[in-house]
Amino acid sequence: MNGAPGCSPGERGALPKRRWYRGVFATSSPMGAGSSFLLRKGWVAVKDVEALRSEALAGIAAALDEATLERARVEWLGRKGPLMDALRGIKDAPAAERRDLGLALNRLRDELEAAMAARQAELRETALAVRMQAETLDVTLPGRPRALGGPHPLQLAEDALVRALRQLGFRLAEGPEVESEELNFEALNIPKDHPAREMHDTFFVADLPGYVLRTHTSPVQIRSMRAHAPAPVRIITVGRVYRRDDDVTHSPVFHQMEGLAIGEGIGMQHLKATLYEFCRAIFGRDVRIRLRPSYFPFTEPSAEVDIGCVFCGGNGCRICKGTGFIEILGSGMVHPHVLREGGYDPQIQTGFAFGVGVERIAMLRYGIDDVRLLFQNDLRLLRQF
Ligand code: DAH
Repeated sequence: MNGAPGCSPGERGALPKRRWYRGVFATSSPMGAGSSFLLRKGWVAVKDVEALRSEALAGIAAALDEATLERARVEWLGRKGPLMDALRGIKDAPAAERRDLGLALNRLRDELEAAMAARQAELRETALAVRMQAETLDVTLPGRPRALGGPHPLQLAEDALVRALRQLGFRLAEGPEVESEELNFEALNIPKDHPAREMHDTFFVADLPGYVLRTHTSPVQIRSMRAHAPAPVRIITVGRVYRRDDDVTHSPVFHQMEGLAIGEGIGMQHLKATLYEFCRAIFGRDVRIRLRPSYFPFTEPSAEVDIGCVFCGGNGCRICKGTGFIEILGSGMVHPHVLREGGYDPQIQTGFAFGVGVERIAMLRYGIDDVRLLFQNDLRLLRQF
């Protein structure tokens, strides 16, 4: 007989260890403790249903989460649970009790099922409330502001330079920052031992003989010519250049923009017109320019270009040292040696070139008087752009 309901205290040890069996039958066996009839017949008296009821309800109420509640359902209402045992035992009850017992047990089953459902709803509600509490989102809180960055003044100057020359038909070209000595110097007519090399305090590259950190953007001239010769070219390039000096007015890393135009019949007048339009785009339509004879190994003739001082309007001040002019770039007609290096015939094609310091343009355009300010990344300066 399976887990016979009703037993004497002395026989309990042999029965399955279900709490209910102890709770109900140890205390309230219809035949009194130790009834052998109950052990044999396995039915529950009507008055014992109440004990089963209260224990099952306590078990349901004690479940604090749905998983525990599910275990309680299996324990109390499951096929192997005491209620089903009791229902199966009805047929063995004395005829007089059977009807009431059946009614009581079925009512109990309905009641327990209802209690389960109610408890489950309750647990779900609490769980939801707890979650809602934990996941509270106050949509009225102000958002976290995201600081927006802005372009660096050097970038602004670079953009202005590039824009101005693009409008004049120049295309952007590129070259590496680690450059061969050949393109950085020899091809540009700066042979070894040429005094101009000394002005370019050069960084050499360890383990890479014959290469340097480019000291100017001019090697891109050679690269572009070699890529296009004998067709005409009109390019600009911008980028970092390196020189081994570091003081109040010099940074070991700085920026240059280079321009180059090669073709048949290009003369000094084209250079001057281009630079004039370029300066007007950068410094305003009323700007005055002046070309001064100068020397660069890669141009002949060479000219330095000054603009009327943007600080004093040309009357003479501290910044233009009383001259009324400020030097802004170097330029000239491309040297025949450079043309040949680039793959052109100097008898047929000619051209002009110019080189601009981007830092210098930024300082003039924005009235910044110390080059180091451009590299310190102090937000008090950068926020002004
Ligand atoms: N490469 C020169 C320098 O770094 C600047 C320069 C001068 C570039 C004259 C040119 C030019 O293209 O024609 O000092």
